[in-house]
Amino acid sequence: MEVIIVDSPKLVAERAADEIEGQVEAKSDAVLGLATGSTPLRLYKEISTRAAQNSLSYKSVTTFNLDEYIGLSASDPRSYRFYMDQRLFSNIDIETANTHVPSCALTEDPQEVCEQYEASIARAGGIDLQVLGIGTNGHIGFNEPSSSLSSLTRVKTLTDRTVRDNRRLFADNEFQPRLAITMGIQTISNATRVLLLATGKRKAAAVSAAIEGPVTAMCPASALQFHRNVTFIIDSAAASELKQADYYRWVEQAKQDLALSRHRALD
Ligand code: GLP
Repeated sequence: MEVIIVDSPKLVAERAADEIEGQVEAKSDAVLGLATGSTPLRLYKEISTRAAQNSLSYKSVTTFNLDEYIGLSASDPRSYRFYMDQRLFSNIDIETANTHVPSCALTEDPQEVCEQYEASIARAGGIDLQVLGIGTNGHIGFNEPSSSLSSLTRVKTLTDRTVRDNRRLFADNEFQPRLAITMGIQTISNATRVLLLATGKRKAAAVSAAIEGPVTAMCPASALQFHRNVTFIIDSAAASELKQADYYRWVEQAKQDLALSRHRALD
């Protein structure tokens, strides 16, 4: 596992944007797995700003979002489809038809929708790069503690803690869904590369459990310890409970020094 600790949320967004741009430069028809929540907002802003300034095209890129509430329509400003359209898709030249959010209308069979979502990911050739945030309880997507580490896309009931954490996005007395469709932990783990972003002190305990704790269904993000190509990009506040923080900083510095000396040798 690679752990990159940077000084600010702004730098988290810049590092993650570099990764996404690098993926799309390397493979113009890349398949990206995307997350919502507050954490990736800066990342999407950064990608949108860069896209307006450079010539990188997302025309052939396909995206799959991690999750969506059940009971909110795509035009509902609190739905994740609305969030993605506003924050990213409308700012880059991606084809809307290539963007997927696992929505389930009340008239649809959720099981069928989930199976179809898995099938579309497989048809697209699998996810090249999956972006994740992390819940304060260690969830990824909406895989709450006690989720099966082999789970696929399915309906999950949100915990009280997640409902409370996301309450800020809903007005008083407004309907807040307790059910969501989410990619499973196995779906996420199948991605070729995974980037988990976390910022702020309130994520510090979850980050430390994910990276340095035991692998357990009680911290779904800890399943990433099995992944061969996972990078945590976190700010110093989110890194504040890591026992080996100095070691991760040292490794990162050594990598940068090595890259610099290689670059100089080639000049
Ligand atoms: C939400 C989403 C997750 C997200 C997490 C953290 O409930 N389902 O995909 O990573 O919780 O959200 P935030 O970045 O707002 O803290």
